[in-house]
Amino acid sequence: MAAPNPSRTTDWWRDAVIYQVYPRSFADGDGDGTGDLAGVRARLPHLAELGVDAVWFTPWYASPMVDGGYDVADYRAIDPAFGTLDEAEKLIAEAAALGLRVIVDIVPNHVSDRHAWFRAALAAGPGSPERARFHFRPGRGTDGELPPNDWPSQFSGNTWTRVPDGEWYLHLFTPEQPDLNWAHPDVRREHEDVLRFWFERGVAGVRIDSAALLAKDPGLRDFVEGVDPHPYIDQDEIHDVYRSWRAIADIYGGVFVGEVWLPDAERFARYLRPDELHTAFNFNFLACPWEPGRLRRTIDDTLAEHAPVHAPATWVLCNHDVTRTATRYGRADTAFDFATKRFGTPSDLELGTRRARAAALLTLALPGSVYLYQGEELGLPEADIPPDRVQDPMHFRSGGTDPGRDGCRVPLPWEAEAPAYGFGAGPGEPWLPQPADWARYAVDRQNADPDSMLTLYRTALALRRTVPGFGDGPLTWLPAADGVLAFTRTQGLTCVVNLTHTPAPLPPHTELLLTSGPLTPDGTLPPDTAAWLQAD
Ligand code: NOJ
Repeated sequence: MAAPNPSRTTDWWRDAVIYQVYPRSFADGDGDGTGDLAGVRARLPHLAELGVDAVWFTPWYASPMVDGGYDVADYRAIDPAFGTLDEAEKLIAEAAALGLRVIVDIVPNHVSDRHAWFRAALAAGPGSPERARFHFRPGRGTDGELPPNDWPSQFSGNTWTRVPDGEWYLHLFTPEQPDLNWAHPDVRREHEDVLRFWFERGVAGVRIDSAALLAKDPGLRDFVEGVDPHPYIDQDEIHDVYRSWRAIADIYGGVFVGEVWLPDAERFARYLRPDELHTAFNFNFLACPWEPGRLRRTIDDTLAEHAPVHAPATWVLCNHDVTRTATRYGRADTAFDFATKRFGTPSDLELGTRRARAAALLTLALPGSVYLYQGEELGLPEADIPPDRVQDPMHFRSGGTDPGRDGCRVPLPWEAEAPAYGFGAGPGEPWLPQPADWARYAVDRQNADPDSMLTLYRTALALRRTVPGFGDGPLTWLPAADGVLAFTRTQGLTCVVNLTHTPAPLPPHTELLLTSGPLTPDGTLPPDTAAWLQAD
């Protein structure tokens, strides 16, 4: 592994590259078709060789997997399909030995309907202290047959489900994910304890799921879009929760990354005040189309909104919820929006891949930390999932119009010639089908190819570790032709991205460090290509 870059900050999280593992689909150690911790442990060297600093695991806790593990039945137990707590502890230690920090995913907004608290709440009945930990209410209408309010779901469809005794309970996601009542002291105490539990086991950080949704309007009032303040997104009370969490994290030197989808820059930055979360995902960048003006504005806005709170920006191109980068950037509409996802949207994969390669260099050169989603380093496209194999509740709750998120969750290809591309060590069919043409994306094939996406990422990450100027710090735009993004960091490090349709000259430089694709014969930068340069 490359030696650490002395110009980088000591706060590792301010400029780290963090790799997201979706355990179900990373590697299958026991060969039953579902990824697991044994699989991850066996493949940790891949991550160390790739050159990332940390690994974020999407939920690995005991769960009925109605929403891919974001329906947690027990925050202190590993799901048996993934392994045991003992294995998780070993994994954390083995990762540390390879220089990799571990980030776990905490889901505080809701639990599984199999969680002991919810089972107790159902059994205890209306008015009980057990129900007070959730949002149970009588219905409206003459017989209480109507839901208590009109709140929209995060997953389309209903937000209330009626139980046999007539009461309704709130769930912003599926009915199997009842929302917790964050005004209840038990809920706060329990989560603080869960944080301690994982920090005690050596994790370096916590990703906070649905971080802006926890607090609800106390009266659970109705909502008129565009007229009322939102009754459950970004309520002020939430910040008090994160201040108490920060005090716990500080004891262990742990860090937070919040899943905060908020378009308002000022409201977003509130989560990053010095006594709250260290970082939050930058979804505006993820959603931004591959257009020079929009990208530049998003980068500027991101840096401007983080500056007053002294928090580092994060840069994310994809994750387990969104369309894979190579596919998205090859479409007519290169923006990401949950609302417009449809089956069969055409994509020019060659174009999308060229752009994804350029986007990798752009992203890794920006100030702050970067999140890489498993398979992004392989340039995986979004897979088409046959209708009878779709599993994601988002698809079913949309009435079948939304293809869901399975297409970015397909088990990884490791070995081109092996069954299931080496995903599993046994006969189990992968839990989601892998496309027939994925041998070309397999890790072993890309390892041997100097022009592969994997080689590009490895080279870029090694440079990012060793060349001064990357990571946290200032960014200065350079004059460039319309449609070309060019900026310097410190110490002459320069990044240029050509988003026009014609080749562009490179800015003055003393050394060409890396390009995302070959230059033209006369040394100019082709369309949809990026370069890292060293200037005086
Ligand atoms: C955000 C997670 O990333 C997503 O996968 C999940 O479905 C929702 N939160 C609900 O937990």
